Parts: sequence; C-alpha cells; structure tokens
Amino acid sequence: MSLDGYLDSPTRTRLAMSNDADFDRVDAVRAGCDAVLVGAATIRNDNPRLLVRSPRRRAERLARGLSPSPMKVTVTELAKLDACAQFFSCGEAAKLVYCASPTAAEAQQRLGSVATVIDGGRPVDLRWLVEDLGARGVRRLMVEGGGTVLTQFLTENLVDELQLVVAPFFVGEPEGRRLVGAGRFPWNPDRRATLAEVRQIDDVVLLRYALSPRFTSE
Ligand SMILES: NC(=O)c1ccc[n+]([C@@H]2O[C@H](COP(=O)([O-])OP(=O)(O)OC[C@H]3O[C@@H](n4cnc5c(N)ncnc54)[C@H](OP(=O)(O)O)[C@@H]3O)[C@@H](O)[C@H]2O)c1
Repeated sequence: MSLDGYLDSPTRTRLAMSNDADFDRVDAVRAGCDAVLVGAATIRNDNPRLLVRSPRRRAERLARGLSPSPMKVTVTELAKLDACAQFFSCGEAAKLVYCASPTAAEAQQRLGSVATVIDGGRPVDLRWLVEDLGARGVRRLMVEGGGTVLTQFLTENLVDELQLVVAPFFVGEPEGRRLVGAGRFPWNPDRRATLAEVRQIDDVVLLRYALSPRFTSE
C-alpha cells in the first residue's frame, strides 16, 4: 500500500507499489503456496497473470511434482468476468471461480470451459471457501487482494499472517481503494496484533504480522 493506505489509483491502471526486489520476494512467497486468490475486481482492473515468474522457482515446483505456478482462485457475485482475462488464459494450474448462487449458472456458461465454477452461497462464505480449498488439497493460500477481499479475510479471522509492504509515496485520491474497508477487525486497540518482522527492501518496508498460532517465521 501507499503511505496513505491506498492499494491503487483511480486515475492510473495497475499502479505498481513494490520495487523489483520486493516483486521478486512476492514471487518466492507465491511459489511456496498451493493457491493464490484475488477478488473479481482485481481481475477486471489489473488483468493479473498470477504466475510464478522465476524459471528456477517454476522448475523447483515441477521437481516437487507441482504445477509451475499455484492454483488460481477468485470470488465473484456478479460473474462479470472475461474468459479471455489472463487469470484464465495464463498457466496450466487449475483455476477456481467461487460464485454467488444466483449467478452460478451464468458463470458456468461463461467460464466453464476455462475454470471450475463452484456455487459458494450468497455472498460467497469465505470460511466455507477456505475449507473447500482445504478439501481440494490447498494447505497454504496467498490472498493478494484487493481491499474488499482482504477486509473479509481479516474481519472473519481467517488470516495466519499479514504481509504489508509500504511504498514510499502518497496517492491522495479518495476514490482509490484502501487496504481495507470498514469492519470489525479481531485486531483493534484492545487486542493488538503481533509484529513478527520489519524488513527494509530497498525503498519499501515489509511488515509481517503473526495473526494466528499457525504463523511460521520462514
Ligand atoms: N496494491 C496491491 O497490492 C493490490 C493488490 C490487489 C489489488 N489491488 C487493487 O485493488 C483494486 C480492487 O480492489 P477491490 O476492493 O475493488 O476489489 P477486490 O477485492 O479485488 O474484488 C472485489 C470483488 O470480489 C467479489 N467478491 C468479494 N467478496 C465476495 C464474496 N464474499 N462473495 C461474492 N463475491 C465477492 C465481488 O465481485 P463482483 O463485483 O464480480 O461481484 C467484488 O466486487 C484494484 O484496482 C487493484 O488495482 C491492489
């Protein structure tokens, strides 16, 4: 996020917050996960590929019998996703779309040839979603945003670790997305989160918070 807590800019497409060294760190984290999840708005706005970029890390995953990049997961209520988006068209790993019940049939029609569409209730219950992912073999899930999704994972106390990178600039545009929206967070003035690590990475800083006993400081 920016110094003023924004995840993006409403006037610029795909605002890069991190620097090269941090993008590489994120690549390593991604390579260590079984699945990555983004909200549908992030697919529409950023068109991310969500692949492991490093050839060495891709080869290491292959040697471990895994796909070169983790499974991709998204969640949507409206099902207005383009089957040609890079989320669907890039990479061999499975793509899962958890869709709210009223539009699940529409999502199946639109995306069924490029992804597995799962009816997730209305709205999609994220606690059920992570249990369903667990049943599909996902032990480690990386939630890459945006703010709507992050807010739900945090307020529903589903997060083991928060990695927060602060970029050295302000956005200053109130229409932009903030790190999180309103909600009742388990970490508040009466229950402070545990700061596990502070690391400078060139001109950004990484803050790691341990949010559950499952946190491991690798
Ligand atoms: N700086 C960063 O690291 C970073 C990372 C990721 C994203 N971003 C930015 O964040 C912005 C997007 O953030 P955002 O908060 O607007 O959106 P988001 O969290 O990416 O996606 C929100 C959308 O996900 C779906 N959704 C979320 N929870 C749901 C639930 N429980 N049930 C059903 N559907 C659910 C809905 O999709 P439908 O609208 O399809 O119903 C909702 O509109 C983008 O501009 C992107 O650039 C920044």
